[in-house]
Amino acid sequence: LTMEPSKEYLFEYKGYYFSVETTPEYVATLEDFEIKDSDIFLATYPKSGTVWTQNILSLIIHEGHRNGTENMETMERIPWLEYNRENKDYASLPLPRVFATHLPYYLVPRDLRKKRARVIIYVTRNPKDVMVSYYHFSKYMTTLEQIPDFNLFMERFLAGKVLGSLWVDHVAGWYSHAEDFNILFLTYEEMKKDLRSAVLKICKFLGKKLSDEDVDSVVRQATFENMRKDPRANYENLPDDIVAKDKGSFLRKGTVGDWKNIMTVAQNERFDKVLGDKMKTLPIRFVWDINDEV
Ligand code: PPS
Repeated sequence: LTMEPSKEYLFEYKGYYFSVETTPEYVATLEDFEIKDSDIFLATYPKSGTVWTQNILSLIIHEGHRNGTENMETMERIPWLEYNRENKDYASLPLPRVFATHLPYYLVPRDLRKKRARVIIYVTRNPKDVMVSYYHFSKYMTTLEQIPDFNLFMERFLAGKVLGSLWVDHVAGWYSHAEDFNILFLTYEEMKKDLRSAVLKICKFLGKKLSDEDVDSVVRQATFENMRKDPRANYENLPDDIVAKDKGSFLRKGTVGDWKNIMTVAQNERFDKVLGDKMKTLPIRFVWDINDEV
């Protein structure tokens, strides 16, 4: 194992690492992907709370996973833009369409920039928890390269040699181009601290008025405990060629500060040394511990 990601798992396109679950040819078509007025996008760096927010969006938009989405998996309810595994016809999806994406700001459909009305929700998470979540996830997903040595994994993460490339570039890119889009920024940590407020923020941003009971119901179904019990939210129905179900669960810990359980003092210092200065330029106040104020 070296610093270079294995080509068996990742490919690079315009300076960004994608999983071989998609192709450079398909990714290239996305710049011309046709946007519809009602489209909603959820953009994240991997392991930042995507499935959590996908689930919340489906609960809000499909009115409690109804309207035909009852028997769908999370990734059918809110499909991945750049990973269209089953080659679905995205143009014919019922409106409003909601897509999840890990794309960096500069690779999204061109129309998204031109027409600021299209909405995007961008969720960030503190990068130490992102990295640790990712590390465990790579053991669970058979489609990701396994790097059992955490130190080597960290070096790859810090060098941007992972799916999603360099974390700080992804986040800084979206934040510094915020004016190009109609975008709502959320953090994993604020969702964790006060899920109801986050759900209300999303509703307000989407112009959706839910009754108090409906908001309560979204919040209840989006807690870690309840999503973990929901096989569709927990990716339990994914085929064995994608997940190694004996090696854990998609909803793993769902907390803030788990990085402290694996990173040594030296590794933490190294992390801060490499990313610390760049992180300070971001307009985000990071929360590193479950007991910190958001
Ligand atoms: S992916 O693979 O990029 O789509 O992963 P992503 O969904 O972005 O991130 C997975 C982590 O989010 C946690 N998660 C949650 N935390 C709290 N509450 C809820 N409801 C929830 N749903 C998902 C999930 O457990 C992963 O984090 P870790 O730290 O590994 O537990």
